[in-house]
Amino acid sequence: MNKKSLLTMKDLTNEEILEILDDAKAFSYSHSDWQLPESAQVLTANLFFEPSTRTHYSFVSAEKQLGLKTVDFQAESSSITKGETLYDTVKVFESVGYQLLVIRHPQDEYFNELKGINIPIINAGDGKGNHPSQCLLDLLTIYQEFGHFDGINVLICGDVAHSRVAASDKEALERFNANVRFSGPKEWEREGYPFSDFDESIEWADVVMLLRIQKERGATLQSLSDDEYLSQYGLTKERYNRMKDHAIIMHPAPVNRGVEIDTDLVESEKSRIFKQMHNGMLVRKAMIKKALGVAPFVREGQE
Ligand code: CP
Repeated sequence: MNKKSLLTMKDLTNEEILEILDDAKAFSYSHSDWQLPESAQVLTANLFFEPSTRTHYSFVSAEKQLGLKTVDFQAESSSITKGETLYDTVKVFESVGYQLLVIRHPQDEYFNELKGINIPIINAGDGKGNHPSQCLLDLLTIYQEFGHFDGINVLICGDVAHSRVAASDKEALERFNANVRFSGPKEWEREGYPFSDFDESIEWADVVMLLRIQKERGATLQSLSDDEYLSQYGLTKERYNRMKDHAIIMHPAPVNRGVEIDTDLVESEKSRIFKQMHNGMLVRKAMIKKALGVAPFVREGQE
């Protein structure tokens, strides 16, 4: 198998997505100690130009569990501060022997500037464009719950306009025949993502996915306090009680407790928020394996 950059969900066929989900599941039971062949020789670097806790440190965890040698790039002490471009920075890593890069950057589709790079890149988030590793962990969480995607009703609520998670999840879920609705303040409606009535959709949804307000991308609702936001657009206890019995809560996090979700609901029975984080580590191990061109584990029924 060839090495492959994983930049957007469009880089993966449906079959490849299912292979990654199966590999992630295998990492949680039968292959938990599995390491890449000759992993000790593989050098990887994590270049985060935006803050991150989950994505960054779950990639580090995945890399170390797979036996890779891993380093974290520090932009503030690098030659970026002397005006070096993103392309030239990434080219340095390629030139000095790194074989895999994980990059998060605030610019939408920053990777279009990196077409001359010949080592695989995993996109850890680009502006409001794409977040493929978050999307794959969301898919895994939904699959674990329902066993399929076909006909599952997913309601994505909040700052849709600035959300790369909404963009990647919509694209992938619709490919697998899930039904996706959006809701939130009218100001945050995004072209191609029409908003529906929140209170009606709460009772329709099998998955209620809440989004953080992305203040760092200019999202503001100056007229609303946190309490007002929660009561108008967030998951309150009253709305929670109207969710279907089997419905689950998801959130890519970080969570603003008491804004998009009542703080008592973050670890409620229906919440899968911390399960999503654990799944993130499993999915990122599978993505690294895929990016480095290692064949999928043999799936049940395919031997
Ligand atoms: N969900 C997510 O991308 O979280 P971090 O910004 O902490 O990585």
